[in-house]
Amino acid sequence: MRKKIAAGNWKMNKTPKEAAALAEMLKPKMANDKAEVIFCVPYVDLMPVIDTVKGSNILVGAENLYFEDKGAYTGEISAPMLKEMGVNCVIIGHSERREYFNETDETVNKKIFKALEYGLMPIFCCGESLAEREDNITIERIRIQIKRGMKGLSAEQAKQVVIAYEPIWAIGTGKVATSEQAQEVCKAIRDVLAEIYGSETADEISILYGGSVNGGNAEELFKMPDIDGGLVGGASLKEDFEKIVKAF
Ligand code: 13P
Repeated sequence: MRKKIAAGNWKMNKTPKEAAALAEMLKPKMANDKAEVIFCVPYVDLMPVIDTVKGSNILVGAENLYFEDKGAYTGEISAPMLKEMGVNCVIIGHSERREYFNETDETVNKKIFKALEYGLMPIFCCGESLAEREDNITIERIRIQIKRGMKGLSAEQAKQVVIAYEPIWAIGTGKVATSEQAQEVCKAIRDVLAEIYGSETADEISILYGGSVNGGNAEELFKMPDIDGGLVGGASLKEDFEKIVKAF
């Protein structure tokens, strides 16, 4: 059975003190026996958030990592560093990283391997731009991202990956994909996974939707057959996240 997941992506929004306060405020509202709850936070917020949520059901993730173990890579953070801190998972290949920090399908692929090597659950992001959607190449674009991002992973490794479908035009815009649009692409992702790994493996991989998810639309999205939860930006920084976590 694949997992249901409500993951928050806090992006670059909270100082360490603010992050601890937010985690403290949300903690009692996150209890859930239907879904895993994850806070993905900036590197410097990891320690205070891990300390704050200790003893609860909340897992903590980073928003990126580097694909080498150690060395002369000024400013980068490695998988073993995250692992030692008690981090559980890591977002990889978010569209903001692809757009502003030259992340490519190839670096994404290396990062997924590195995360898995250290037992960090990768939340692997894919998604089309508005121009790609308007050109009717959404599915083609997503299939390429999935194939390149997961290139070389065994079925056993693929099962450890969580995929987040995040249409770029829906991120931070308030313009949520309809549940049918989101389902269509999440189903296409499961189809390409089935082509590569077989349908048994594809059925075990959690696929999340992200892009303007909020307390009002989460339930509608999460009841679609191929949507196993959400990767949530803005609404994960507010009390509203409770509604999302309880929308399963
Ligand atoms: P919003 O929920 O703010 O649209 O952001 C989505 C996102 O990018 C999550 O990774």
